[in-house]
Amino acid sequence: GSANNNMEVKLKALECHFTWGIEKANIKHLDSLPEKLLDRIMKVCTPNHATYFNLLAFLSHLEENNVSALEYLHKAESALKNRQDDTELLVTYANFAWVHYHSGNMNNVDAYTGKRFQPHSSPSPLIKAWSFLRLGGLFYKGAKESFQKALKGDPDNASFNVGYAMVLYRLEWLATDGTERLAHTEGATQLRKALSLEPDNTEVMVLLALKIQNESGHESMKLIKEALRLSPDVPHITRYLSEYFRYTGINESLEVLEKALKLSVNSPFMNYQIGLCHKQQFIQMSEQKRNGRWVNEGQIKEKVELCIHHFSIAVELKPSNFHFRLNLAEIYGENYQLEKAMKIFTNLLKDESLNDSDKQQCYSVFGKFLYYRKKDIYGAVTQFKKAYQIPIESWHRNKAGKILTQIAEWCQARKKRVDAFDILEFLATEDKKGRKAEEPRRVEGNWQYFAKSLGIVQV
Ligand SMILES: *[C@@H]1O[C@H](CO)[C@@H](O)[C@H](O)[C@H]1NC(C)=O
Ligand SMILES: *[C@@H]1O[C@H](CO)[C@@H](O)[C@H](O)[C@H]1NC(C)=O
Ligand SMILES: *[C@@H]1O[C@H](CO)[C@@H](O)[C@H](O)[C@H]1NC(C)=O
Ligand SMILES: *[C@@H]1O[C@H](CO)[C@@H](O)[C@H](O)[C@H]1NC(C)=O
Ligand SMILES: *[C@@H]1O[C@H](CO)[C@@H](O)[C@H](O)[C@H]1NC(C)=O
Repeated sequence: GSANNNMEVKLKALECHFTWGIEKANIKHLDSLPEKLLDRIMKVCTPNHATYFNLLAFLSHLEENNVSALEYLHKAESALKNRQDDTELLVTYANFAWVHYHSGNMNNVDAYTGKRFQPHSSPSPLIKAWSFLRLGGLFYKGAKESFQKALKGDPDNASFNVGYAMVLYRLEWLATDGTERLAHTEGATQLRKALSLEPDNTEVMVLLALKIQNESGHESMKLIKEALRLSPDVPHITRYLSEYFRYTGINESLEVLEKALKLSVNSPFMNYQIGLCHKQQFIQMSEQKRNGRWVNEGQIKEKVELCIHHFSIAVELKPSNFHFRLNLAEIYGENYQLEKAMKIFTNLLKDESLNDSDKQQCYSVFGKFLYYRKKDIYGAVTQFKKAYQIPIESWHRNKAGKILTQIAEWCQARKKRVDAFDILEFLATEDKKGRKAEEPRRVEGNWQYFAKSLGIVQV
């Protein structure tokens, strides 16, 4: 009736997650977002807790869990209890009203839309801006606008400056994909300003370190060391490490990481990161050996064992992490502990929660294991095909295509023409599909290139 219409008009006029046009399908990493937000609430003392509780409430609503949504909103409310201004409370109450509305508790809707609102204050842009920053790429522009708007009213507010710096960093990072263009110096300048306002903010330190890594290696490394000293066990800090150490010498990386590990023996990411460094050195040594250079066998063995040691700890501490498990399986394979490797692979292949890019990696690494360690060529072909069939351009897909081409050549040489034909036809079909999709970069299919370079006749 008209009472209901009236209520809907009121609800739609409120500023909150329900009225900001947040579509579930646009949220990046929806599955892992709640855990990340809870991590942030637990590990860092920031004024953003109320924001994250509000966002968690909205995510609960998207999962149709109104009980959990209300719980989170109560937590947001108590996080805001001792605040001077009630502008963040307005957003929280608006979310309360909406959750009650969806639950059919109309009396409570009235309570939250009517009585408990202060007539003169307008909602703080803070919650919207920080929520958008956490929701992923499609919301960054909105986050940037919100922070800009907030900064106009309060140019030296630390929280707004930090958030604005982070969103600029993300937008500039996206710019390397060609999806977005921004002047590349603005982010660094803003990150420096943010750090001057919040000198202990280790996330800002790490982002600035990444931003200036190429131009100011020394200053950048100093920031990383300081961030790891202050936050050796904070997931949203340690997660950036692989990005940072990709461009640093392995020995230097290991030195820094080992020091940080002493402060955080129970950090799964730190152990994983150290494992990755040892893995990289192991791969280098194995390559040298394959190229006929003398390599100390004891050292190779030692590297593999260090990998196993650190990856095992990472898996033990965080068994749900796909990358930890895959790396452990792979390195068990390298160490010829085939049963242990097989057990992990089997579980990973059954895991329904993996997304396509994880699955692709898994098929490709498992394929290599079957091919090189188990000498099961046809089993490997099956896995490589599955990896290749997932239309995400990646190192693992290329690798799968490369080895499939090699196997086709091997079959050809042994007069197994049917098998060779089958593989090459598969690759050709997949590449044709790829060309029909709207990605113009994939003009020349993998297999054609390799077939040409290997002198294989096109079929
Ligand atoms: C949750 O929503 C359902 C209807 O969707 C309702 O029956 C139930 O009472 C609600 N629970 C709470 C705690 O509001
Ligand atoms: C920044 O703005 C927020 C929201 O208006 C406010 O709660 C906070 O106290 C401000 N911080 C500073 C340092 O002024
Ligand atoms: C630093 O250099 C590497 C390699 O040259 C490049 O891939 C990376 O994007 C650069 N990083 C930044 C932040 O410009
Ligand atoms: C890294 O350290 C190892 C010994 O710990 C040494 O053999 C190797 O040469 C070093 N590599 C570089 C690039 O310095
Ligand atoms: C798939 O999930 C992983 C986490 O395991 C994540 O890092 C990656 O970005 C996701 N990929 C896609 C395409 O969503």
